[in-house]
Amino acid sequence: MSALTAPKAPATPEFDVERLRADFPILSEKVHGKPLVFLDSGASTQKPKVVIDAMSHMYERLYANVHRGIYHLSQAATDEFEKARETVARFLGTPDSREIVFTRNATEAINLVAYSAIYSFLKPGDEVVISHLEHHANIVPWQMLRDRHGIVLKVAPIDDRGALIWDEFIRLLGPKTKLVAMAHVSNTLGTVLPVAEIIAEAHKHGALALIDGSQAVQHIPVDVKALDADFYVFTGHKLYGPTGIGVLYGKAALLESMQPWQGGGDMILAVSFDKTEYNEIPHKFEAGTPAFVEAVGLAAAIDYVQGIGLEAIAAHEHDLLVYATEKLKTINSLRIIGEAEGKGPVISFVLKGLHPHDIGTILDREGIAVRVGQHCAHPVMDRFGVPATVRASFGLYNTRAEVDALCAGLQRVREIFG
Ligand code: ALA
Repeated sequence: MSALTAPKAPATPEFDVERLRADFPILSEKVHGKPLVFLDSGASTQKPKVVIDAMSHMYERLYANVHRGIYHLSQAATDEFEKARETVARFLGTPDSREIVFTRNATEAINLVAYSAIYSFLKPGDEVVISHLEHHANIVPWQMLRDRHGIVLKVAPIDDRGALIWDEFIRLLGPKTKLVAMAHVSNTLGTVLPVAEIIAEAHKHGALALIDGSQAVQHIPVDVKALDADFYVFTGHKLYGPTGIGVLYGKAALLESMQPWQGGGDMILAVSFDKTEYNEIPHKFEAGTPAFVEAVGLAAAIDYVQGIGLEAIAAHEHDLLVYATEKLKTINSLRIIGEAEGKGPVISFVLKGLHPHDIGTILDREGIAVRVGQHCAHPVMDRFGVPATVRASFGLYNTRAEVDALCAGLQRVREIFG
């Protein structure tokens, strides 16, 4: 039986989507005079009031720069920032908050590892293995290392449903493999990669494993220790948190062995013109004033989703995915791109004869927000032979009625373009 017809967990009666929608002020907005139907949570989720309030509280009552002042406000802000780090650590399943580095986003977290790696564990000729379904954020940094530092980049292929071809992946691993860097969930196809097995294979070959969880942590409970990930990255704004804050989890011993990638204030213990003594982890990797208000917002977002329960959220989103997939398949000449077993709540599709941008424009007039284009994953478009797709991605606040609105909007597109 297809995973699409078998919910992972029964939708819980406590999951009251209408009550949860009321937590998100923007969801009562109208767009072009129509109720907003927001189906672009894969790009960025909307924010619950508790996140907005937590950040306002910081600015209104607790604002001063962190790690610098001896005075009350600075210490209070620092306490909130470090509490946020502990919240993130608990969320990812590590007892050691020194393993949590705050970055600007997931992209910056991957770049941090890449640029630190060339001074730590990667040398010319070493191989980095990624997959064909990666977001550009997990392609371009490694290409830059290839072109500038002689790293060899290998790409594990995917099949016609969007799943990793396991045997081909295994064939790419060898004594020169030093890092396997892969998405947990594809932003374009929804494919959920078998990351525990991928990490285990990397380790068998003496390589490290980095997992890009940007599209995972809002849908799947993640335990970095159970996975045995060496690095795990995600971004705050797709997890109902603010923009400008991302997370790099790294094993403490690894982070300690790595060189910092940016220099500046806060990442040092002592500086003279002759030499600099770097700070302890994680501060060694956080040069300059960090996004501490955003970190507090992210912690509020984590508390919020954990208060609802990620399992309950996942069950609700899976129900929407099944419902939407079945309904969309009844639309004439609609092709879904990405149908891997057990996929996440993302549906990319094309309508024969129509450009996704035209579809997106008409849907927007109906108040429906979807992403159209290449989704920062050009190689995925090439793999499936399409210039672009329409992508509907679900969050905890979406409803079956919104799926119905999407389908009605697509019928409207057909009426207009024939
Ligand atoms: N990475 C984001 C997306 O998938 C922006 O839309």
